[in-house]
Amino acid sequence: MSRQCKVLLNDDEMPRQWYNIQADLPHPLPPPVDKEGKPIGPQALAPVFPMNLIEQEVSTQRWIDIPEAVIEKLLLYRPSPLCRAYAFEKALKTPAKIYYKNEGVSPAGSHKPNTAIAQAYYNKEFGIKRLTTETGAGQWGSALAMACKLFGLACKVYMVRISFEQKPFRKMMMNTWGAECIASPSNQTNAGRAILAKTPDTPGSLAMAISEAIEDAVTSKDTRYSLGSVLNHVLLHQTIIGLEAQKQFQKIGAYPDVVIGCVGGGSNFAGISFPFICDKIHGKKVRIMAVEPAACPTLTRGPFVYDSGDVAMMTPLLAMHSLGHTFVPRPIHAGGLRYHGMAPLVSHVMREGLMEACAINQLECYRSAVMWAHTEGFIPAPETSHAIAAAAQEAIRAREEGKETTILLNWSGHGLMDLTGYEKFLTGKMVDATLSEDDLGKSLQSLAGLPQPPEL
Ligand SMILES: Cc1ncc(COP(=O)(O)O)c(C=O)c1O
Repeated sequence: MSRQCKVLLNDDEMPRQWYNIQADLPHPLPPPVDKEGKPIGPQALAPVFPMNLIEQEVSTQRWIDIPEAVIEKLLLYRPSPLCRAYAFEKALKTPAKIYYKNEGVSPAGSHKPNTAIAQAYYNKEFGIKRLTTETGAGQWGSALAMACKLFGLACKVYMVRISFEQKPFRKMMMNTWGAECIASPSNQTNAGRAILAKTPDTPGSLAMAISEAIEDAVTSKDTRYSLGSVLNHVLLHQTIIGLEAQKQFQKIGAYPDVVIGCVGGGSNFAGISFPFICDKIHGKKVRIMAVEPAACPTLTRGPFVYDSGDVAMMTPLLAMHSLGHTFVPRPIHAGGLRYHGMAPLVSHVMREGLMEACAINQLECYRSAVMWAHTEGFIPAPETSHAIAAAAQEAIRAREEGKETTILLNWSGHGLMDLTGYEKFLTGKMVDATLSEDDLGKSLQSLAGLPQPPEL
């Protein structure tokens, strides 16, 4: 038989439950708090999210059933293939085996529909008619636009201005799925108007777009807000990625030595890694690696603090690694990784010593992405290129040490709507944008006076 390039699952082998890591954490997750440090109860979140999702947010039940209507929609593109990157391995001259979970096969082009579909379903069940959201690169906005249409909800997307200008086709995708998409900051919300008055030329940021989308949700009828990353229930919905990967590795009698994912808010990384971290908590030997941009190094240089998820401080304070909620990252091309904070669950798992993190500059990421396109064919999203660059570093180390390391990376999305970044790279116009100590120090000042999370 010729070598096996893809490991596939049948429809009936797709997992029917999500994995909730909160059931297995060595120490409990610090709760969200208000500015005085008092824990926020589920009721306080009710104007923003439907109660059925708030219940998932605080659940510590290990396995949560996926509703039948959600399974039906996930089956439009799942189970996603686990592929072996033979040609990329050959180009790197490595004895390492590199596997990738291809989440780029979804209709919107990334892992984001895994939670968009679930969130649209739960909002519909709760009687909500319209969802608002923010989007960076546009992957999340298009995923939610599609999911809303599948469940008959209206959708409005506030898209970070720099991405709105760089990626007009993302907006057209959202429009095709029936959603409205505008550039953020906009003059349609108080938050947006206040930002524009102070900084009219701002490239925007996820923290600004979140402020606008939440304000819209809490001031509009039958409307709730939907977040594409960071929160516990979002990460929960993404665990289907790692659960499928575990089944696929079982089929070929293999197991990864290292699991790698890029991190923006943390959802695709958590999706692939949390089921493996469960194995690790129960004694398995596996390294877990998060990769972030050097321009927005939340896990590697941001302190673990209580901070707000948005610039107008409309969200409760979350215990997380943060660069400060006023942080505006340089306009690098991985728009989905330009977030000042990190999922509390990912930040907590990092504090527990169950994972590691590294930061890589965008030029190295694009070099790896182009090498990937030359060997494996698929053009990765700029966000995904971070995971590829880290996998390449691991594979080169394996070559130097003569080890047959098995690497699993989450191929979080394709880059077919992100070609302006590739054009800049290919014409030599791209530059690196490492964060200076000075800029980091200034941004961390926004944390002054906020409560401190408890010691472990
Ligand atoms: C393809 C892709 N990968 C990764 C990310 C980062 O988000 P998260 O950390 O929530 O997975 C994004 C965000 O937009 C994305 O579009």
